[in-house]
Amino acid sequence: MKARPIIFDTDPGIDDAAAIVIAIKDPDLDVKLLSTVGANVEVEKTCMNALRLAEFMDVDIPVAKGCGEPLMRKLRPCPEVHGVTGMDGYDFPPVTRKPLDKHAVVAMRDIIMSSEEKITLVVIGTHTNVAIMLKMYPEVKEKIEEIVTMGGALAGGNTNSTAEFNIYNDPHAADIVFKSGIPITMLGLNVTNYALIYRKEAEAIKARGGKAGEMICSLLEHYRSGSLDAGVRVHDAVAVAYMVRPDLFKTEMMPVEIALDGPAAGTTVSDFRAMESGEKKPNVKVVTEVDQEGYTQWFVDEFCRGEE
Ligand code: BDR
Ligand code: CA
Repeated sequence: MKARPIIFDTDPGIDDAAAIVIAIKDPDLDVKLLSTVGANVEVEKTCMNALRLAEFMDVDIPVAKGCGEPLMRKLRPCPEVHGVTGMDGYDFPPVTRKPLDKHAVVAMRDIIMSSEEKITLVVIGTHTNVAIMLKMYPEVKEKIEEIVTMGGALAGGNTNSTAEFNIYNDPHAADIVFKSGIPITMLGLNVTNYALIYRKEAEAIKARGGKAGEMICSLLEHYRSGSLDAGVRVHDAVAVAYMVRPDLFKTEMMPVEIALDGPAAGTTVSDFRAMESGEKKPNVKVVTEVDQEGYTQWFVDEFCRGEE
């Protein structure tokens, strides 16, 4: 099977790092670009972290620096979860690579437009870069296969009681993307909060996952979205699992809208009753369930791939 071409729009981020490393190792995916955005930490840092990952994995994937601020709101980063660098917990060697000499929005456009095949966008940070690209270069829509996004939730948040971090940080951008007409798959907290990784898996990865496995385990020790003893939520890796192992998930088409104002701004709202009555049409494929055991096994296997 030919590898599926993808672009990560990302804010590494410890769970972003896990997602990116898995995708690099997985032969079914072909990572064309790491397009960075400010969210978990400032964009200068997320861009540096993307460069660190490309260098560490010794792959020729270009890295581009994108937007540092959401469209309308002020960025609320979360160094308390990922550390001040955004990837605290591993001593990466000095980076010799440089980001592309163009903005991430332009870099994404160029790759999408010059690709023979349609590209899948995997959005694991805020939607700022993607929203700007859709406004500036609407011609890209025809050449995007799907947008797989880690963000939102069917209910409940992790930034406040209703909003998930990636959508909360730039709801206006998410609104543009969700209304774009491009096929969207939403992997929210209703699934990622239940795809947990424990110390047992981390130890297996450390023992059998080579240097990338060791690196990820060190980062996971410092990651504060859960703990290895109680289970860590490696949210962004679940988006990669969905692309290569859709059999582990259940999905349902639903109408999803983004609240833009008021105390619930940044909340993804799915109006089930309006869908049943036919008042609202489904616009998003929402991932509703994960096979937890199958996912955990997949996560370990991906890190051990090619190492034994
Ligand atoms: C999302 O927020 C970020 O902190 C993580 O990297 C993930 O993309 C989870 O809500
Ligand atoms: Ca992220």
